[in-house]
Amino acid sequence: MQVDILLGLQWGDEGKGKIVDFLAPQYNVVARFQGGPNAGHTLEFDGQKHVLHQIPSGIFRPETKNIIGNGLVIDPVVFQKEIESLEGFNLNVKQNLYISKKAHIILPTHKILDAAYETLKGDKKIGSTLRGIGPAYQSKAGRQGLRIGDILSPNFANKYQEILENHKRILHFLEYDYEIGDAEAIFFDAIAFIRQMHLTDTEYLVNDCLKNGDKILAEGAQGSLLDVDFGSYPFVTSSSTISAGACTGLGIAPNKIGEVLGICKAYATRVGSGPFPTEQDNEVGEKLRQIGREFGATTGRKRRCGWLDLPALRYACMINGTTQLLLMKFDVLNTFAEIPVCTHYELPDGSITDRIPHDYTDTQVKPIYKIMKGWQKDLSHVRTFEDLPTELLAYIDFIEEKVGIPVTLASIGPDRTQTVVRGALRK
Ligand code: GDP
Ligand code: IMO
Ligand code: MG
Repeated sequence: MQVDILLGLQWGDEGKGKIVDFLAPQYNVVARFQGGPNAGHTLEFDGQKHVLHQIPSGIFRPETKNIIGNGLVIDPVVFQKEIESLEGFNLNVKQNLYISKKAHIILPTHKILDAAYETLKGDKKIGSTLRGIGPAYQSKAGRQGLRIGDILSPNFANKYQEILENHKRILHFLEYDYEIGDAEAIFFDAIAFIRQMHLTDTEYLVNDCLKNGDKILAEGAQGSLLDVDFGSYPFVTSSSTISAGACTGLGIAPNKIGEVLGICKAYATRVGSGPFPTEQDNEVGEKLRQIGREFGATTGRKRRCGWLDLPALRYACMINGTTQLLLMKFDVLNTFAEIPVCTHYELPDGSITDRIPHDYTDTQVKPIYKIMKGWQKDLSHVRTFEDLPTELLAYIDFIEEKVGIPVTLASIGPDRTQTVVRGALRK
């Protein structure tokens, strides 16, 4: 059996949580492979909304195993809260959730360091979620991290203390004022809580599952344009958000990868700083934000809104080896008479390109739009892909043609049921 990957093709918040939950019954295992509590994945069903940060979005399907892979950085306090928020839903979370011993731990001081680095950057700040992600991955790459497996060691408190002293030295050097307060006590309580979970070598688990014929869905966090290598650096997150990240973040060999399901909104959003050529910082963007309820699932911040960017989408599909496109939030565009879509950029020297310049943080690119006709219809009657209005299908055809990848899913509302599929995704 193979591992399919589902990941975001834009700047995050494409609707990954909704679709992982929707697809989970087709899989035996759902596994997160990177990121941490910076993620906010929303699921809606039975009139209720749930936001998951570190727990995979297959958790509401009782027959699905959920794995938190080695590629994540885990905040134990957020984790405990997430598990507790699932109590009362009659789920056997402890039974169905496995955490990699090699996943890294976010310490209280990682969050303070995140705030310190952002403060120092001033108006060049990344717009981090301040969840300690960057500093925790820095500790990992700097070979000074604490891992989940360490909490089983009798030496854990000493290991923690050594890293803490190191962080205090850095914060002193940065002349950053902070108070740890009761954060350490809460952290150690959460560590005691996590000790009762299934902590395991998840790379053996996923490979054993594959040998047993299980189907695995790897769930990405963030989006390809936030990838630490290929995103709009330095306005990125600190992990590999692309399909290759699923291999390193779970211990799966590249030849085990099957479908790469890329998720993309029918328009575009971004939260935090950094380039966004098709941004509509005007009443159009405000309309998209209000109708699409574009406010961060983790931080509640306003998401910046704009039009679909095909050069960026093609780039993301190339890097990921995307095999199917899953398009989201069409209903948000129901009232628009015209839907612009960016096909090319004009560079400052007047030349036209359909490629992303390597320094597009500094290079001002001007989007060139093709104007598509809006469908101006409510979509609540739509039950199958073929029910979609003609203009909407024409919009999909145009994207398929320009990107060269089949669109196999259209999402027309936040609920699990507001989803229509075709082709390879139709069972
Ligand atoms: P994720 O981080 O990729 O899982 O996405 P988020 O959960 O952060 O943001 C997606 C938001 O859009 C959530 O509030 C979803 O409930 C919502 N959503 C998902 N699909 C649709 C859709 O087709 N239409 C509308 N209107 N909302 C959607
Ligand atoms: P999901 O999984 C949208 C953004 C932040 C900031 C940058 C770096 O819900 O799609 P970080 O906290 O990682 O150091 O922040 O990345 N960011 C996200 N934007 N969705 C996310 O996750 C994000 N996770 C991080 O806003 O610009
Ligand atoms: Mg999100």
